Amino acid sequence: MLKPRIRPRRLRGTPEIRRMVRETRLSLDDLIYPLFVTYEKEARKPIPSMPGQHQLSIDNLVKEAAEAKALGIPAIILFGIPEKKDALGSDSYDPHGIIQQAVCAVKETVSGLLVITDVCFCEYTDHGHCGVIKNNDVDNDATLELLARQVVSHAKAGADIVAPSGMIDGMVGAIRTGLDEAGFEKMPILSYAIKYASSFYGPFRDAADSAPQFGDRRTHQMDPVNVREALREAELDVQEGADLLMVKPALAFLDVISRVKDRFDLPLAAYNVSGEYAMVKAAAQNGWIDEKAITLEILTSIKRAGADLILTYHAKDVARWLA
Ligand code: PBG
Repeated sequence: MLKPRIRPRRLRGTPEIRRMVRETRLSLDDLIYPLFVTYEKEARKPIPSMPGQHQLSIDNLVKEAAEAKALGIPAIILFGIPEKKDALGSDSYDPHGIIQQAVCAVKETVSGLLVITDVCFCEYTDHGHCGVIKNNDVDNDATLELLARQVVSHAKAGADIVAPSGMIDGMVGAIRTGLDEAGFEKMPILSYAIKYASSFYGPFRDAADSAPQFGDRRTHQMDPVNVREALREAELDVQEGADLLMVKPALAFLDVISRVKDRFDLPLAAYNVSGEYAMVKAAAQNGWIDEKAITLEILTSIKRAGADLILTYHAKDVARWLA
């Protein structure tokens, strides 16, 4: 009989030994919980394509943030749905805009919870694009000025970290300059450095009412087939002063996460986006998959690929499962 001398199975024989040799651990410390805040009063409107997620009025957002904190989730990221949209997305930099009010309310009420703001224009413009439109395209340099304005208003409202997500060239540099000039030298920038023009954002655009009214985002978000370009994008953001990097989406881009992690030393986040969440929820509701096992496997795979932090709508469920 053939007798192998080397048997990898020796390290898999019992739960105890498997526990000892585990290479990757998913922790509550890694999670960032995305939340949608609407100008509407007393709202807790379910988002149909994202079961368990809601558009929340400010009072309900504060409750949700307090619950997240109580569950041990360290951070939330906020997306705003303003009452009025216009060509410039002016609510996004209004000192009394939806996001500024929301940040203020959460910071006043819930202590010990990091509040990150998404910095973009698509939820605030009537055309649904991520910046100022000129000749049917996002005008890069005109958008930079407004981005700096938006970010300073978030900082004044009390945001702990700002996260620009528009894939506008030079956005990190413009934001760093804007923050520093306004006296917010200590504000960290979490850059959505590598964001693909992905079909996985579909449910989010319903949730945030941010679908483009014409065209698409392919002139600024990256082509999903590229990976060397991702390294170039990350390098530029590092040079411009990003403090943390993000790859988005996560699951279909694990190779990108891995490549970025190998090359750069900044903390790396990955966004487990709305479409990834919707697929798991839909299959689970049909009884076709084991939701807990699949979710933990997916999130652990994102960590194994190299992400230090994960933005995920599953955060509250995970907090309960890991407790
Ligand atoms: C832009 C933004 C988007 C997402 C996060 N920030 C949408 C987009 O680029 O169209 C998507 C997140 C998700 O799908 O969960 N403000």
